[in-house]
Amino acid sequence: MPLNLESNYDLTALNSFGVAARAAHYLRVTDDASFPEAIQLARSHAGERGVFVLGGGSNLLLTKDYDGCVLHIATQGMRVLDEDVVEAMAGESWHAFVMWTINRGYCGLENLTLIHGSVGAAPIQNIGAYGVELKESFHSCDAISIETGETRRFGAEECAFSYRNSYFKSFAGRQWIVRRVRFKLSRSPKFKLDYGDLRKALIAKGILNPSALDVSQAVAEIRMRKLPDPVLLGNAGSFFKNPVIPAAQFLALRDQNPAMPHYPDDDGWMKIPAAWLIEHAGFKGVRHGDAAVHAQHALVLVNHGNATGDALWALAQEVQAGVETKFGVKLKPEPIIL
Ligand code: EPU
Repeated sequence: MPLNLESNYDLTALNSFGVAARAAHYLRVTDDASFPEAIQLARSHAGERGVFVLGGGSNLLLTKDYDGCVLHIATQGMRVLDEDVVEAMAGESWHAFVMWTINRGYCGLENLTLIHGSVGAAPIQNIGAYGVELKESFHSCDAISIETGETRRFGAEECAFSYRNSYFKSFAGRQWIVRRVRFKLSRSPKFKLDYGDLRKALIAKGILNPSALDVSQAVAEIRMRKLPDPVLLGNAGSFFKNPVIPAAQFLALRDQNPAMPHYPDDDGWMKIPAAWLIEHAGFKGVRHGDAAVHAQHALVLVNHGNATGDALWALAQEVQAGVETKFGVKLKPEPIIL
């Protein structure tokens, strides 16, 4: 399909917060072969603001109109490369890809069911849920440099994955646009069921020897109970990362808050649920106009209809300041704030 650069483009339907904002220029890439040409075209219309690469728009808060060029990655395609390596193009829906692998008898991605967003965005923040992170089954990805047009293959090591982070979020890494991602999966089940209520949910359904589809369905049911569907209520999933704090700070905090949940992280560090900190700083369900902290899950900010990106960002900063005052912990936003 020929490239079609559009102007003054409405981004409301392209961000899961459903915030009204426009792009001065907008270009959708649907054909992988057109990437080099698309990058050139986008760059020539980007002005000083630059090119913004948009995937599923599910991890993004638009605080105002974008006066550069939005390059929307919408390439499609999934295939089996060999016995246990599968590949998907960057614009595929992550959830559709997970279901595609399960329907072909693969295990490894079932805990990552129903995460909104695209395949190309998944490695950038090393998506994770229910005790599993993308990095555990990642094989490699191909990315094209927005600066030089070169396409390069990145193995897991070069991606430098960590909790909700990768090389692609670093200053040097931001020049790369992910074109396709490969995963190494397995046909013999090795499920991880120990996070939260997952095993309990399966047992409650009478399932003792689950298939990947059973695990996927149980994860989907838990998520649907806890997290708002962005189609019905605008949101970007977890708005903050769970803070990882030094052991000494944790011990001091726990003395004051004996019931605070905590999970050991790397040597000497402890991960604390940001949702708990936000709820206990009094922000769960707080609403200013249409911008709110979700009443069922304190880690999710929601747009009840007509919240502006600015209003959501102001609320996020209020939550951040309140948690820091009460607990001395600075929360870091998970989505890109544009
Ligand atoms: N909690 C509260 N109040 C709340 C909600 C939760 O106190 O309103 C406490 C509970 O004690 C609970 C703990 O927080 O045990 C953890 O809650 P939950 O299991 O819902 O997980 P989370 O830490 O809030 C993380 C991910 C989610 C992922 C879930 C399940 C991050 C930033 N978020 O959330 O990922 O689905 O675990 O694995 O790591 C996302 O990134 O967008 C996302 C939804």
